[in-house]
Amino acid sequence: MRPLRDYERLVTPLIDAATLAARVAELGAEISAAYRGSDLFVVGVLKGVFPFFADLVRHIDLPCQCDFLGLSSYGSRTQTSGVVRFTSDLSHPINDREVLIVEDIVDTGLTMSYLLNNFQTRGPRSVKICTLLHKPANQVVAVPLDYVGFVIENHFVVGYGLDYMERFRNLAYIGYFSGALPVLESCP
Ligand code: IMP
Ligand code: MG
Repeated sequence: MRPLRDYERLVTPLIDAATLAARVAELGAEISAAYRGSDLFVVGVLKGVFPFFADLVRHIDLPCQCDFLGLSSYGSRTQTSGVVRFTSDLSHPINDREVLIVEDIVDTGLTMSYLLNNFQTRGPRSVKICTLLHKPANQVVAVPLDYVGFVIENHFVVGYGLDYMERFRNLAYIGYFSGALPVLESCP
């Protein structure tokens, strides 16, 4: 085990890199089997999804198109207000396509519910959701989650793309703050 770097000392490991890699490979295999014969359109929800997306698509053994959009919800540092907005949109249409949304974490469900409603207006053939993490404790709206990596307890988690105040996305594992949330300077 390598020693913790200074900025990681407040983070308690929850899911290590090897466990993440094994589960992501399983999800990729499941998705490959389910979409065999189709031309998949995989949508990554930025920013938090970037490591998961990169690892997952390399386990999808099918022709597929990759695209991204950005969503952000206003709120406090760790709680969403449910008011979602696009920070960037797809660069290609999804009408008549088999769409798989890839998300880092579903918490209240408000973000995914907003995106599903938006996508329905674009005439896709199908839309499914793959999320690395699901935190059911805070669910406000139920959304169908077709592929779930891990169901977790009600912790505020960071790492493997997930941030706290734009930091910690670069950790190779997922962890949580066991004490009070650290006081960090806002990113400029
Ligand atoms: P929801 O709309 O409440 O389901 O939240 C979805 C978004 O909130 C996710 O895409 C994340 O960006 C963020 N989020 C929710 N829980 C966490 C967490 O524990 N750590 C980091 N980000 C989170
Ligand atoms: Mg997200």
